[in-house]
Amino acid sequence: MLLEVKNLSKEYKRGSKPFFAVRHVNLKLDDGDFAIIIGRSGSGKSTLLNLIGGLLTPTSGEIRISGRNLALVNDKEGSLFRNSTIGFVPQGQSILSSLTVLDNVRLPHYLWNRQGDVTERALSLLDQVGIKHLANAYPQHLSGGELRRVAIARALMNNPRLLLADEPTNDLDSQTAGEILGLLSNIARTGTTVLMVTHDTQAIKFGNRIYEMIDGDLLESIPENTWSKVASS
Ligand SMILES: Nc1ncnc2c1ncn2[C@@H]1O[C@H](COP(=O)(O)OP(=O)(O)O)[C@@H](O)[C@H]1O
Ligand SMILES: [Mg+2]
Repeated sequence: MLLEVKNLSKEYKRGSKPFFAVRHVNLKLDDGDFAIIIGRSGSGKSTLLNLIGGLLTPTSGEIRISGRNLALVNDKEGSLFRNSTIGFVPQGQSILSSLTVLDNVRLPHYLWNRQGDVTERALSLLDQVGIKHLANAYPQHLSGGELRRVAIARALMNNPRLLLADEPTNDLDSQTAGEILGLLSNIARTGTTVLMVTHDTQAIKFGNRIYEMIDGDLLESIPENTWSKVASS
């Protein structure tokens, strides 16, 4: 098993009243799974993804990646392990405007491990996401879909076992969104586990594991008849 989330919770306060943004979540994913979590805005999707990615500390519960409990290693060891194991496509625009596309993709390598020339690897990732011809362009000249492809290539730079993607099709027209979903599905087919969260119900047909998030609760395999409710929400 690649990812095991056990009884994971994150509690916040609204005013002085505590509430669970993520409540007792359990999740197990294998190599090559393409897992999709659908949920409305505010249901806790980003919080869950940020907990798994190590950007937030849980209130309680456990996250294991390849059997390793990241809470039990020290910060430096934990962040090195995460950086070599997890790729993250954050919500919204995250590409640095002062760097070329190629430099954006190479960045994760140089941030952690300054040795070696990774230009060839970055170009091959750009090829994989279909925008090798834009390697030397600057982000302001790219479309929304192209920027999302850069973010995906960048997230793959350190050859992660797990790719986390937060609303990767947000603000894209449905054709471009479909292309991005196809791309993520191909990445999962190469053995990288993909976990994406979205409010886009179009995504459902691309994943092999489907979940719904409602007010911090994660529910697996939504029965057919509830899809219409999700879709109309
Ligand atoms: N740092 C925070 N402090 C307090 N409440 C937060 C914080 N971050 C998120 N929340 C709240 O937690 C809930 C879940 O947020 P989020 O995970 O961003 O939802 P989603 O990504 O599904 O839109 C929301 O009600 C949000 O307002
Ligand atoms: Mg979110």
